[in-house]
Amino acid sequence: MKKRKITIFDTTLRDGEQSPGASLTPLEKLEIARQLARMNVDVIEAGFPAASPGEVEAIQQISRKVRKPVICALARTVKRDIDAAREALKYAKKKRIHVFLATSQIHREHKLKKSKEEIYDIAVEHIRYAKKFCQDIEFSPEDASRTEREFLAEVVRRAIRAGATTVNIPDTVGYAIPEEFGELIRFLIRKNPELGKKVTLSVHCHNDLGLAVANSLAAICAGANQVECTINGIGERAGNASMEELVMAIDTRADLMDSTTAIRTEEIIKSSRLVSYLTGMVVQPNKAIVGRNAFSHESGIHQDGVLKMRQTYEIIDPKKVGLSGSEIILGKHSGRHAFKERLKKLGHDVSAKELDRAFEKFKILADKKKYVFDQDIARLVEDEVTDVPPVWELAFLDIRSTTGEVPSARIRLKHKNRTAEASSEGDGPVDACFRAIEKITGVKARLMDYAIKSVTSGEDAQGEVNVKIEVGTKQVKGRGSSTDIIEASVKAFLHAINKVAAHLDKPIAETPNV
Ligand code: KIV
Ligand code: ZN
Repeated sequence: MKKRKITIFDTTLRDGEQSPGASLTPLEKLEIARQLARMNVDVIEAGFPAASPGEVEAIQQISRKVRKPVICALARTVKRDIDAAREALKYAKKKRIHVFLATSQIHREHKLKKSKEEIYDIAVEHIRYAKKFCQDIEFSPEDASRTEREFLAEVVRRAIRAGATTVNIPDTVGYAIPEEFGELIRFLIRKNPELGKKVTLSVHCHNDLGLAVANSLAAICAGANQVECTINGIGERAGNASMEELVMAIDTRADLMDSTTAIRTEEIIKSSRLVSYLTGMVVQPNKAIVGRNAFSHESGIHQDGVLKMRQTYEIIDPKKVGLSGSEIILGKHSGRHAFKERLKKLGHDVSAKELDRAFEKFKILADKKKYVFDQDIARLVEDEVTDVPPVWELAFLDIRSTTGEVPSARIRLKHKNRTAEASSEGDGPVDACFRAIEKITGVKARLMDYAIKSVTSGEDAQGEVNVKIEVGTKQVKGRGSSTDIIEASVKAFLHAINKVAAHLDKPIAETPNV
C-alpha cells in the first residue's frame, strides 16, 4: 500500500519562540531555519511579522537563505498583519501566509466580541486579501477543538471557498483527547470532502494534557495530511506536539500507520541540541527521542538484554536519530556482562581473575558514586592489573579530625587471611593514617612527596593521590584513588609500602603486629 505523505510544518520559530524566555535573535532564527531545512521539513513557520520590525527582518533573512522549504508567516485577520507578512516573505522562493481567527464561543464572546456571522465575514475578507499577494494560504480557526462543530465546518467551508489551500485545526489549549480529536477530523472531512485531498488538512496540537502528539497521530489516522510541531515540543505554555516524537512514531509504527514523512531523522539530535542551546530551554532527561536518557540503560537486566540483542529494550536504533549508539550507564544496577563489555571497549583485555576483582571494586565504587565513568573504570583496572601484589589491603578506616583537637586515625589492614589494627595521632588526618599503617606493617617510611588531583568527572569525582616514600635507602612511588581523599591517600601509601613489602626478603607474615 502506498503511504500518504504527511507534510511536516515546523513552528519552532513561531509558536516555539512564544515559549517564555525562548526569544531568539534574527541570526539564531536563521541558524535554526537552516538546520530545519537540513532535516527536510516541508514548511517553516518563521515568525509573526506584526510582532516587530526585527521579526520582519529575521523572516526576510530566512527567506533569502533557506530556499527549499516553504517559508510561512503568521497573521491575524488584520490587514496590517497581512501586509507585514507580505513584506516579510517578499524574498521567499516558496511562501505561505497563515491567517488565523478564533471561532470558539468563549473566544468569540469574551475576546473578540463578535457574532458567528461576523466571524464568517472577517475570515473570508482576510483570506481574500492575503490571496492577492500569495497563492498558498493557510487558515486556522483558533480554538477549533472547542468550537461548535457545525459552525466550525461552515467556517472551514467558507475559508476554502475564499481561497485557503490549507485548513489547520488547532487544539489551541490542549483540551482534546485523541479519540475525540480524530472524530472531529473525520467529521470535518465528511462535511468538506476536499480536506486532506485538494485542500491540505492540518492539525496544530498543544500539550496542556500531555496529549499533543497522541492527538496529532489520531488526526493523521483520521485523514489529516499536515501536522504542525516544534523541535523538543517547545511552544506556548506546555508546548506543541514534538516533531521528533511525531516523526519517530510514524516511522517506528510504519506497520500501523499508512503514512510517512520526508524528515531526515539522522538530523534529529543535532536539531534538538541546537534549539535547546539557542533558546536556553533544557530538554528533560527522560524526554522521548531526544532526552539524555532516551537511549541509556541502567538496570543490569536491561543492559544484559541490550548487549545480547539491542531490540530487547530499544524500539529505535539510536543511529537513526543521529546518536552513535545506545548508552550503557554503568552504576550500581549494572551487571558483570555490561562491565566486561565496557572493559573490552576501553581496550582492557583482563583475565577472568582480574575481571572478578575489578568487578568487585567496581561494585564498591558504584555504591559510592552515582555514575561510574570510563575514567573511573580505567583507574580500577589499572589498579587491578598493576604488578604490585596486594600484600596489605585496607579493610577499615576511621578518622577523627575536629577543630582544636589532634587528628587521629584507626586503621585495619588485611594481610593474607588475617587482619591487624592500629590507631595513631598525627599532624593531620593523612599523617595519622600513615603512622597507623607504619605501626601495623612495621615498615618505617619517610614521606618525600604528596600530590592530589581529581581524575574523574562529576560532583562525586574520584581523587588520585600520588606519594613518594623513602624506606631505608629505597625511594618508592605509590598511587591510590577514591572518592574520599583520605582513603585515596591511604591506598597510595599502601601501594608504595606493598612495593617495598613485595621485595622484602623476610616473609611479611613475620611482621610483629599481624
Ligand atoms: O495554538 C494556536 O491556535 C495557534 C494558531 C495561531 C494556529 O498557534
Ligand atoms: Zn499554537
